[in-house]
Amino acid sequence: MTLEAAEMKRIVAETAVDAYVKDGMNVGLGTGSTAYYAIKRIGQLVNENGYDLTCVATSVQSEDLARECGITVVDIDDVKQLDVTIDGADEVDPKLNLIKGLGGALLREKIVAAATVQEIIVADESKLVEKLGTKAPLPVEVLQFGNGHTSVGLRRQRCEPVMRMKDGRPFVTDGGNYIYDCRFPDGIDNPFFIESRIDVIPGVIENGLFLNTAFEVLICDSDGNVRRMSEEKADE
Ligand code: A5P
Repeated sequence: MTLEAAEMKRIVAETAVDAYVKDGMNVGLGTGSTAYYAIKRIGQLVNENGYDLTCVATSVQSEDLARECGITVVDIDDVKQLDVTIDGADEVDPKLNLIKGLGGALLREKIVAAATVQEIIVADESKLVEKLGTKAPLPVEVLQFGNGHTSVGLRRQRCEPVMRMKDGRPFVTDGGNYIYDCRFPDGIDNPFFIESRIDVIPGVIENGLFLNTAFEVLICDSDGNVRRMSEEKADE
């Protein structure tokens, strides 16, 4: 059996929701085509199982979907912390470090992840990499003001920054900012070092490296098997 990507995303998202989301929890809602299935499942738990959940969304898109699914969405500052967040990723390395943000929601995703006890990442097997930056570019969210100068600072980190476009115009994030997708020709050898260098460039608001963030990563293969990778296992 070889499943389509959408089916792998549905299976892994539903597996994560069923394993982690319990009645009464504060839950973070991710963004993207995998998180989509998690939000749908959470909607079922609310509507069919009567779960009383307080949810925070990582994007306007996910907030709209959640409300359509009958999920109550609150402002992140209305909760002290989130018990669990279920979100997707663009790349996952063997230590469970991530690249996120190809969907444009990295800033809110990182704020929500930082407020979350158990950040659960769901993905199909195509997202596994040996080294970050080898398949996906690293998205970096920057202030509109002076973004050309900010991109010069990014280029000094030995990457090729390309402004993300949509419909012939710069893509604008939920926070009103631009994104540069930074392609590293040989991947990212030391993500902690690169993150520290990028974060001090004036105009940079957030980068798409999510390091030491995932509590567990669930990966679905093309046979529909879900593998659970946790921090402890990654350290072995
Ligand atoms: C959104 O900004 C991203 O971080 C997504 O979580 C990531 O791009 C994964 O998206 P898919 O599940 O659509 O691949």
